[in-house]
Amino acid sequence: MNISIIGSGYVGLVTGTCLAELGNKVICTDCNAEKIRHLKKGIVPIYEPGLEDLIKKNVDKKRLIFSQEIKPAIQKSEIIFITVGTPSRENGEADLTGIENVARNIAHYMNGYKLVVEKSTVPVQTGERVKQTIDIYNHKKHKFDVASNPEFLREGSAINDFMHPDRIVIGIESKKARDILLNLYKPLKAPILVTDIKSAELIKHAANSFLATKISFINAISQICERVGADVEKVAKGMGLDKRIGDFFLDAGIGYGGSCLPKDIDAFINISEELGYDFVLLKAVRQVNEEQKEEFMRKIEDNLWIIQDKTIAILGLAFKPNTDDIRSAPSIDIVKKLQEKGARIKVYDPCAMEKAKAVLKGVKFCKDAYEAARASDCLVIITDWNEFKELDLKRIKKVLRHPLIIDGRNIYDRQQMKQLGFKYVSVGRPKVI
Ligand code: UDX
Repeated sequence: MNISIIGSGYVGLVTGTCLAELGNKVICTDCNAEKIRHLKKGIVPIYEPGLEDLIKKNVDKKRLIFSQEIKPAIQKSEIIFITVGTPSRENGEADLTGIENVARNIAHYMNGYKLVVEKSTVPVQTGERVKQTIDIYNHKKHKFDVASNPEFLREGSAINDFMHPDRIVIGIESKKARDILLNLYKPLKAPILVTDIKSAELIKHAANSFLATKISFINAISQICERVGADVEKVAKGMGLDKRIGDFFLDAGIGYGGSCLPKDIDAFINISEELGYDFVLLKAVRQVNEEQKEEFMRKIEDNLWIIQDKTIAILGLAFKPNTDDIRSAPSIDIVKKLQEKGARIKVYDPCAMEKAKAVLKGVKFCKDAYEAARASDCLVIITDWNEFKELDLKRIKKVLRHPLIIDGRNIYDRQQMKQLGFKYVSVGRPKVI
């Protein structure tokens, strides 16, 4: 099939490349000229394992091209995926300017039947707005359908998540739209749930909100564990053995970040209020996530006492491992709060350093974890990169000014830290003195 992808970011690039891999002809467009220029040269603007090679393979096979021109992309395609960003406004509302702009462009340029598929994460009822917008500007009255096909791609495993999804959700209003999308996704041999458009839109917000709820729940439990000397990892394990609960997304830590969970929860709370429902449960999930970072700051102060003029090494800037994305990353909040208290900050991350340099000022960007630890008063773990799990801790202890590690992701074994002679503070687990 001939497909165009409008918006070549984390979702659009992965979606377009994987659809090309399935044998479709795909045009990925973006309004950012520099991004398109880089992509045409094979330079991929995001770190996503395997994406660069898959792009090159499909460009070489002439199944995938990049363009800034939206008109030919619309006119050459039967299916048009909307994958532009829907960032949060100040009040948490999703900014749908990009979506509306694409809908107007599709209406303006369409030259026959189009299936317009919203894949960007949008508040429920957006599909209706897209349809209304195209109706208004579609002066030649070409036939079209709108569908919702939310993405469930995790950064760092997006290609695998696309090629081997737990499920594919398609929200449609016509048999034609249903048949086109069922045919498109048939090669994946994955469970496909067909719903109406509004239900499909809600599935995305509801799923992400539930994942965040699990995280905030176990983080709240970690606070109780710390107050009684229990071990949150054991509590999580005991909970997760109940198949109805499951053991995923029960890793206590410094809290969730990223470009999805925080934004989707804000948007879901906002659209719920617009619909007359006060989503207090979700507000509590968001509040617990903020408090988890405040509690972590308290941990650092409790163990360092005076922050002023102390040198603190931060390991991990990305919001999670295997990505370079620092959007809503806990590291940014923690670094800025420590700087406000007068700390000198050294940072290291395997992938996110370049992106962090645009956001963090007045910190020393180190070439590895050992340089960050050298002559620092403590080592703070923010992102659970495997690289940090495999550090030579004896060497770390030698270069640290004091053998103090404050771990926001529970990546080390407490007994091992005791044997090595560290003072080791983690989340929801008894302190190792
Ligand atoms: C999420 C959803 O998982 C994905 O389905 C959706 O399409 C997009 O949003 P992503 O934002 O890439 O994916 O990251 P995810 O792996 O969900 O982790 C989100 C955050 O939660 C990270 O900061 C991670 O560190 C944190 N997390 C995750 C925990 O703190 N504890 C956990 O047990 C799991």
